[in-house]
Amino acid sequence: MDLNGATALVTGTNRGLGHHFAVELLKRGAKVYATARRPELVDLPGAEVLRVDITDQESVAAAAAAAPDVDLLINNAAFTGGGNFIGGDLDSIRAVMDSSYYGTLAMIRAFAPVLARNGGGAILNVLSTVAWMTVDGNTSYAAAKSAQWGLTNGVRVELAGQNTLVCALVPGLIDTETLREYARGSGIVLPEQRLNDPAELARRALDGIAAGEIEILDESAVEAKARLAGPPAQFDLSAAGASAAR
Ligand SMILES: NC(=O)c1ccc[n+]([C@@H]2O[C@H](COP(=O)([O-])OP(=O)(O)OC[C@H]3O[C@@H](n4cnc5c(N)ncnc54)[C@H](OP(=O)(O)O)[C@@H]3O)[C@@H](O)[C@H]2O)c1
Repeated sequence: MDLNGATALVTGTNRGLGHHFAVELLKRGAKVYATARRPELVDLPGAEVLRVDITDQESVAAAAAAAPDVDLLINNAAFTGGGNFIGGDLDSIRAVMDSSYYGTLAMIRAFAPVLARNGGGAILNVLSTVAWMTVDGNTSYAAAKSAQWGLTNGVRVELAGQNTLVCALVPGLIDTETLREYARGSGIVLPEQRLNDPAELARRALDGIAAGEIEILDESAVEAKARLAGPPAQFDLSAAGASAAR
């Protein structure tokens, strides 16, 4: 896919990785719909800003109507603080599934016909290495990312007929303020040398989309995927020897 001249819609662009996706797409000559729950916080000159809450069906449908020229959908937005299954807050556990799984699904269902009308295009879903393991302290988030991986594989098959590339970005840790806050709050020491720079990660992901890749993994993700074939005790991130993950 040629990103110069493409029309992209990115969710969650007011901060974190989503902001860097939008910056990089603009640099590459794409038209960008930069979406956020709170559009007033979006600082992206050159982008068209839309309000989208991926868990609100009306706002998702309104975005699909307002952006009929989209040929690249980047599902980046997620609530990442679900906590643990046992003893965690049930509303937070539901909220992580509502964003990563049902929210991503809502966006894909709304934009699949738009992409079809525009030649097929591409969808990039932002997953996490925790899709392939778990992490004590945020087990429900890990499970929501596992569900999002299944969703990604399913829609790839379903949308192949309309020529839509469906790609999973599977990163380990990304150096965003949310990760830093999580680490401070949990007293976790981050493995600084393993953190992805979000601007660099966005560039790598877009290179992957341009090259037609269906999975884009960093080093942690390659290791996590390989461990799936090993003993199940290794599926706990802490048992696997890393200090933290989201
Ligand atoms: N940071 C990491 O270490 C890491 C590692 C692997 C994967 N990831 C994944 O990478 C993606 C981005 O993470 P990040 O660290 O950049 O996150 P972040 O800085 O916390 O930003 C999350 C973004 O998602 C938005 N969002 C949350 N719920 C939403 C909803 N219902 N509708 C629309 N927007 C919503 C947030 O908007 P508000 O400002 O309104 O909350 C914010 O813009 C996520 O999918 C995350 O799971 C992150």
